[in-house]
Amino acid sequence: MSEAMQSDYSGPERVLSGVQPTGSLHLGNYLGALVKFVALQDRRPFLFVADLHAITLPQDPKALAGQTRAIAAAFLAAGLDTDKAAIFPQSAVREHVELAWVFNCTARLGWLERMTQFKEKAGKDKERASVGLFTYPVLQAADILIYKATHVPVGEDQKQHLELSRDIADRFNRDFDAPGFFPLPEPLIQGPGARVMSLKDGTKKMSKSDPADLSRINLTDDADTIARKIKKAKTDPEPLPDNLGDLKARPEAANLVGIYSALAGTSDAAVLDEFGGQGFGAFKPALAELAVEKLSPMTAEMQRLMGDPAEIDRVLAKGAERAREVAAPVMDEVRRLVGFWRG
Ligand code: TRP
Repeated sequence: MSEAMQSDYSGPERVLSGVQPTGSLHLGNYLGALVKFVALQDRRPFLFVADLHAITLPQDPKALAGQTRAIAAAFLAAGLDTDKAAIFPQSAVREHVELAWVFNCTARLGWLERMTQFKEKAGKDKERASVGLFTYPVLQAADILIYKATHVPVGEDQKQHLELSRDIADRFNRDFDAPGFFPLPEPLIQGPGARVMSLKDGTKKMSKSDPADLSRINLTDDADTIARKIKKAKTDPEPLPDNLGDLKARPEAANLVGIYSALAGTSDAAVLDEFGGQGFGAFKPALAELAVEKLSPMTAEMQRLMGDPAEIDRVLAKGAERAREVAAPVMDEVRRLVGFWRG
C-alpha cells in the first residue's frame, strides 16, 4: 500500500513528536529523544506530552498531571527553548481527539490488526485490553496530522505507527477528494544514541519497566548513584578493541562506548581511538565522570522546575495556545471536507 503513495503535499515542513508521561525518564530517553529534540529546535518543533495515549493503560488520576509536568520539566532542563519549541499536553488541544474520531472511520480494521505494538502491550488476554489501546495508532496519526506535520523524530519502535499515519493520510486525501490536503509524514529515526541498552544485558533496551534499577540510569539519579551504576555495569574481561568491527560482537562493551560517544557528542570510532587497548578499570571511571558532568546540571534543573509547578504550567499553557492556533483551522477544514454541519 505504502509503495504506491505519492505525496501531493506542498505545505511547509513541520517537526513534531510526543512522549508519554508513564514512568520516569532514563538515559535512553535522554539520548534517544531529548538530545535529538534540542538538536532540531531551530525547526520550531511541536512537542507534546502524550497523556491521552497514557490512559490506554490504567493510570493513577492523582499522579497523571504530575507526570505530565515531569516530562515538560525534562524537556526544559534538556535545553528546549519555549520561543522555539511548542511544549504542551496532548489533552489540552481537543482537536487531537476530534480528528482521531474521523480517522477511526478512515483506518481499516485490518490495518490495525497488523500493529505489533498492540500485540505486545495487550499481552495474552487481548479481550481485556482497552479499545483505546487498539486504536492508539489512529490517535497518533491524528496527533501528527492535525498540525500537518511532515517529520516525526521517533525511535525504531514507532516506525510501523508512522507507516499507518501515512496510510491514513493518503486514504483520507483520496476518500474526500482532497489531494495533498494531509502530508505523508516521515519518521526521523534517531542516529547515534538512539538505542541505549540495559547496563545488565547489552542485548536488551534500557527500559523503565525493567525491575532491576541497576539496569538503567534514571534522570532522577544523583551523581553517586550514576557513578555506582556505571561501575557495576556488566562487561566482559577483554580490554576495549581499537576498531568498530571487534566492538560489534561485544554488546555490553558496545553499549558503554555508545553511551560515551553520545554523551560526548563524538563517534564510537573516536572513543576507541582514545580508549582502545585499555580495560574497563580505566574506561568506566572516565564514563562515570562524563555521565555525571553531562547529566547533573540537567537533573538539578529538573528538580528545581518540579519544585515550581506554576512555571511549568505557564509553559504548557503557552504551548497549548500556540498548538490550538494551528490545529483549529485544520480541524475546520476537515469538518468541511467530511461534510459536517458548520453553522
Ligand atoms: N507512541 C509514541 C511513543 O510511545 C508517543 C506518541 C504519541 C507520538 N503520539 C505521537 C510520537 C505522535 C510521535 C508522534 O513513543
